[in-house]
Amino acid sequence: MAIQRPKGTQDHLPSGSPKLSLDTRAAAFEYVRDTARRVLERAGAQRIDTPLFEEAELVKRGVGGSTDIVRKEMFTVYYFGDHGGYVLRPEGTAGIVRAYLQGGWKQLPAPLKVWLHGPMFRAENVQKGRLRQFHQVDYEVFGSTDPLVDAEAIALLVEVVRELGLKQVKVKLGSIGDPEDREAYNAYLRELFTPHLERLSDDSKDRLTRNPMRILDSKSEGDQQLIAELGVRPMLEFLGEDAAAHFAQVQRYLTDWGVPYDLDPSIVRGLDYYRRTAWELHHEGVGAKSALCGGGRYDGLAEQLGGQAVPGIGWAFGIERLLLAMEADGVELPVSSGPQLYLVALDEENVPLAAKTALEARAYARAEFAYRAMKPGSAFKDAERRRAVWVGLIGSDEAAQGTVSLKHMETGEQKVVPVGELAAFLQKSDD
Ligand code: HAM
Repeated sequence: MAIQRPKGTQDHLPSGSPKLSLDTRAAAFEYVRDTARRVLERAGAQRIDTPLFEEAELVKRGVGGSTDIVRKEMFTVYYFGDHGGYVLRPEGTAGIVRAYLQGGWKQLPAPLKVWLHGPMFRAENVQKGRLRQFHQVDYEVFGSTDPLVDAEAIALLVEVVRELGLKQVKVKLGSIGDPEDREAYNAYLRELFTPHLERLSDDSKDRLTRNPMRILDSKSEGDQQLIAELGVRPMLEFLGEDAAAHFAQVQRYLTDWGVPYDLDPSIVRGLDYYRRTAWELHHEGVGAKSALCGGGRYDGLAEQLGGQAVPGIGWAFGIERLLLAMEADGVELPVSSGPQLYLVALDEENVPLAAKTALEARAYARAEFAYRAMKPGSAFKDAERRRAVWVGLIGSDEAAQGTVSLKHMETGEQKVVPVGELAAFLQKSDD
């Protein structure tokens, strides 16, 4: 059997491939990225990139030692006989904060908005919408604790998914408070769960000592049943005065701007760096458990990584999950046509001339050519398969006179045009 791609990865395929779905179509990824780019750059975000692998220590300190990501899902990077202590990035934020600190971005005007897209890696149990290599669009804002920044980040996310044509999406918005609020909540959870220790999964027993809030995020059914039975009070009830005021202000802005959201009093994100505002974007078609997007504020993260303090907030969505949601909503991608001009030689000696004419035409049009000569009938069939707008034939007559015999593939219009006038002709016919 020929070599297969690794489990939990996908190829992004050319349009027209057999077995094509929206979440494997290369053009669909491009469409999502372009839409995100338009919305985010209009709001002043700059596109950045960071490496696909980082120090394991960065991810451990950033994402948190008690998370599933760090405990079970890291891909370690090995190289020739040695092990460099590197991991493939499971998410973008820790690396972006590292780049902020290392690059001295503090000197740039704040709030500083950046965005990134690219692959992320988590060694997860593979299922629909849960991959080992997936792709995120990530937006981050640095240098402001103003609730206005939180509200704007959420509004931008909603605008991206709206522009993509998604309908059944919901923002679930909550707050996980300041570190001291979380401590109080964790103390409450410890007290609540300790008498039921034997009913908790092994992972959650461990979470009870390290970070009890993680129990609420457990994937074990037994844990979830216990959580339901105990009637756990939500995090929102433990917010201190400052965090509560901040959260109220975020909601006021969103309501004022008409950005819809649902309050989620018990939101728990899968990463440890969050504080205060946190949210997820859910879609009915993709399943209740899997969010399309997650985000929140992470004001303490830079210090946790050993750098100078800088407040930050952001979100990331998985492009694959977004595409599954778009498919469930019946969103159609704009169809891109094939070449505007497809040049075909009618005899072998004119193939190089057809090639040269196409190369020159690329200065003003999407132009392709056939690599072998064809009779007109085959040329039209070939042009149709390639969804060409105009097919241009070059035989010995055209070669002698310096012309191309054009035919419009949809209307059937025919015209002999001198090569020197092709640009003007195609531009006019495009209008
Ligand atoms: P996250 O919630 O871990 O947050 O991931 C964000 C999104 O990435 C998810 O909502 C989902 O769409 C996608 N995703 C995550 N894991 C997988 C997977 N195994 N397969 C397919 N898609 C997946 C973060 O990564 C944070 N860095 C978000 C953030 C940015 N917070 C602040 N700034």
